[in-house]
Amino acid sequence: MIEVINITKKYGNTEVVSSVSFAFKIGQVYSIIGSSGSGKSTFLKCIAGLEKLDDGDIKYGNITKQKIGFIFQHFNLFSNMTVLENITYAPQKVLKVTKQDAINEARRFLKKVNLDSSIENQYPSSISGGQKQRVAIARTLCMKPKIILYDEPTSALDPENTAEVLNVIKNLSKSEKLLSIIVTHHMKFAQNISDKILFFDKGQIIEENFSKDFFINPKSTRLKEFLSKVRKIDEN
Ligand SMILES: Nc1ncnc2c1ncn2[C@@H]1O[C@H](COP(=O)(O)OP(=O)(O)OP(=O)(O)O)[C@@H](O)[C@H]1O
Ligand SMILES: [Mg+2]
Repeated sequence: MIEVINITKKYGNTEVVSSVSFAFKIGQVYSIIGSSGSGKSTFLKCIAGLEKLDDGDIKYGNITKQKIGFIFQHFNLFSNMTVLENITYAPQKVLKVTKQDAINEARRFLKKVNLDSSIENQYPSSISGGQKQRVAIARTLCMKPKIILYDEPTSALDPENTAEVLNVIKNLSKSEKLLSIIVTHHMKFAQNISDKILFFDKGQIIEENFSKDFFINPKSTRLKEFLSKVRKIDEN
């Protein structure tokens, strides 16, 4: 379990995450939705330990920082390395895995994210966005994470690549040993794969519910407004 206790994060004098508490369980999938600027990315970065907290605490149990994977909107692959080098670099450096073992694992995970081995020796600049994101996911998996945090993993992708990447995330999310937290604008996807959905507004979780109830029974006015706007987009 990851226990977030009353955390606050400020940039300058602006509070971006305000006294948020939540307990995330291993083996479960959580989606975070909310308006632009509501603090979703900052909250994920706090969990990943990428931001210093101004107040509060996060209890990780026996999970070390190394076991937390982060999938970014813009992939963040090393542009000077091939796909295979991108994936095998950290396991060799950090986990002290031999080069051959790292390569074997990389190939196994490339398959798992539906990528063909012909991609191995290509550089990020010569593959598609969807392929890049799946390489990024394979790279994270090679570090044997306990938690994967996804920050709008498909927002830079076209519909076809979006579907492919969401499918990979969906398959991974079934693992009982992982905790997945996904910031997304895809409501149907969130509803389908999540155990719980959290609604962020002005730096706070103002509503959370089991995904089966979340969309049919929104309680706060703010969430009702948000969902009606989202539905209007779908209707157009
Ligand atoms: N490094 C930073 N320095 C200063 N302000 C920041 C920084 N990062 C984010 N902010 C501000 O904090 C607020 C929350 O940003 P955040 O990126 O967490 O929102 P978000 O919910 O992820 O939005 P989006 O849906 O657009 O990605 C915004 O007002 C943003 O301008
Ligand atoms: Mg964001």
